[in-house]
Amino acid sequence: MLSLAELTDYFKARDINFEIQFFSGEFFALSFEKEFDASSIADLGGTIKIAEVKARFPTETVKEAFLKKNKQAKKELTESLAAGGLIDGMAKSTEKILFGVSVYCTESTLRTSSSGIQRFVGSAIKDELADLGKKANFMGFGSDRKQAQLSHVEVLKKNLVENKSEVLFCIGRTETWVAVTVAVHNPFEFQKRDIYKPNQRKIFGMPPRLARMMVNLSACKQGKVLLDPFCGVGTILQEALMEKAIVVGMDVNPWCVKASTENLEWLAQEYGLADADFRVLQGDVSRLVEKMGQEAVDCIVCEPDLGPALRQVPTGPYAQKIIQKLEPLYFGFVEQAYRALRPGGRLVLVTPYMKARSGQAVTMPIGKKLEDMGFKRVYPFTKEMFAASAGGLDRVTTAASLVEMDERHMIGREIHIVEK
Ligand SMILES: C[S@@+](CC[C@H](N)C(=O)[O-])C[C@H]1O[C@@H](n2cnc3c(N)ncnc32)[C@H](O)[C@@H]1O
Repeated sequence: MLSLAELTDYFKARDINFEIQFFSGEFFALSFEKEFDASSIADLGGTIKIAEVKARFPTETVKEAFLKKNKQAKKELTESLAAGGLIDGMAKSTEKILFGVSVYCTESTLRTSSSGIQRFVGSAIKDELADLGKKANFMGFGSDRKQAQLSHVEVLKKNLVENKSEVLFCIGRTETWVAVTVAVHNPFEFQKRDIYKPNQRKIFGMPPRLARMMVNLSACKQGKVLLDPFCGVGTILQEALMEKAIVVGMDVNPWCVKASTENLEWLAQEYGLADADFRVLQGDVSRLVEKMGQEAVDCIVCEPDLGPALRQVPTGPYAQKIIQKLEPLYFGFVEQAYRALRPGGRLVLVTPYMKARSGQAVTMPIGKKLEDMGFKRVYPFTKEMFAASAGGLDRVTTAASLVEMDERHMIGREIHIVEK
């Protein structure tokens, strides 16, 4: 859901009109009023592949074909695949073609058929290419594969985007989409910003992909002023600078001020950002307005202290104690943030999210404080974004915050988006 929220805020900030046709944990299907530039995937932290739809059919036909082994249904699928022009891009190649098929399946009854579907689509494509006198190799269906999918790294390494030769078969609950990959996430770029920056801090560091998602959730774009008043080594600031925002950092720790300044200088040089506009101040967040002035920034994006590193799952009372200890820092900051933001400006704030031994989630009660200050909650999803057929909206349109938690970690992140 975090990636879909990022996408929708990214489009809204750029006046790109879209409608969500379908969403699930596996994939989203969106329609656009105008063609949009798929290379914008480089601006997104949470999108792995973008593909252009070539054919669609009822999932019922896929069930008939693969669960009931109905030959007529298989024939219908083969015909729809051929009519969609899936191979148009591949067929232009003068050399032997290498192509792949990835199956994304939301429909649980079809999950175990994914490898069979992958092989079926692969064979249909290979036959079509053979009819045109083209030789082709189909990659990615070895028996050692856990999922019938190519990873984005495989797609990158084998140039499948340039050759238009990865086909996605996306099975929704009632509809199935077949698409050709037109852009893929490049993990090496994000990794480079993470591991080659001059100053790093392992325990407090935030992954650059998450930082980019938060920057996009703040509606930040070129020319906006973005502040991270708990900037650490500047991961959020770096991602905002990549968006060509005017970037201001602050941290109470003088080492962090020096470290993040050096990291931003490195980034500007590494990416040739000639007009990069950034500064990092030293100071306690309780003096934010004094340092920055009133209504001086468009976006505030930050992760304050998340509490001590935990080695084991905390008991409920201990988790509560951690939260209570942190509350004065967060509550005091919210007051400063409201005053420093311009009207209409956004605050994207991480608060700690813990699962106690009982399984109960322990979170910070920041909602009331934000409301009392005058902030309005930005719900990541509204009903208007979805097509009437999308289904399952109540769950997502009532979600007031987004949770990011790696099962291996004891503390997760609850991400709040509010507007002044
Ligand atoms: C969780 S870290 C932020 C990590 C950052 N996102 C990064 O990727 O490096 C929190 C930072 O807040 C700073 N900090 C803690 N209390 C502060 C305060 N009262 N005022 C300003 N900075 C503070 C700490 O020095 C620390 O660098």
